[in-house]
Amino acid sequence: MKMTSIYEGSYQWVMFGRDENKVEKVIDTNQYMVRTSDRCLLIDPGGVELFAPMLAAVLHYAPVDQITDLFASHQDPDIISSLGLWDQALPNAKLHASELWEGFIRHFGCETIEYVPIKDNGCIIDLQDVQLQIIPAHYMHSSANFNVYDPQAKILMSGDIGAALEAAGAPLFVDDFDEHIEKMRFFHQRWMPSNQAKRIWIDRVRELDIDILAPQHGRMFKGGDVNRFLDWFEALQVGIATQ
Ligand SMILES: [Fe+2]
Ligand SMILES: [Fe+2]
Repeated sequence: MKMTSIYEGSYQWVMFGRDENKVEKVIDTNQYMVRTSDRCLLIDPGGVELFAPMLAAVLHYAPVDQITDLFASHQDPDIISSLGLWDQALPNAKLHASELWEGFIRHFGCETIEYVPIKDNGCIIDLQDVQLQIIPAHYMHSSANFNVYDPQAKILMSGDIGAALEAAGAPLFVDDFDEHIEKMRFFHQRWMPSNQAKRIWIDRVRELDIDILAPQHGRMFKGGDVNRFLDWFEALQVGIATQ
């Protein structure tokens, strides 16, 4: 599992991904961690097959009793099907996820971990060193769906928005936006169901100061590529299936 620090201040953001031992037929995912002085938040910790490499990677940064918070942007298996294994490993952790998905996400196993339901208008996750804004991104693509915004690090973790399917070992950041477009087009047209929801999300996100847009698949967008992505996505018609 590749571990890359993407923000260093009084706390740290780390991206985990490009796992060289990934099973061929599962989708490659990016996991993120916010590490403060005595806590860790894992953002979209991943599928059940990723639990062992993720735990080993996170333990490079924090002891197990300081992995205190998990966040799931939505209910998909590539996001949070590892929950039942984290549940056995973490003695004192909370899972922050939509209240709408609670009855479904609990199917992955959630006995020790405390489920903290997020209402549709979002919330703040207070890690003491930083207050993270949980921003609504409903129907993007899941019906109850959230992004994580850090106003200090200027990072927006956008879940499946901005996702691209990449070859193994691809670079972490977009380096040629025009070339990157074709890796995103089908995914966004087919998986994002609503042009209206897209419009609401774009208007909301344009208000934010973003240095890094960090999706759950593919490459991150930095600097001018953040706006290039928003402009491209704004013009794209979504909710399209061919049959
Ligand atoms: Fe998803
Ligand atoms: Fe995903």
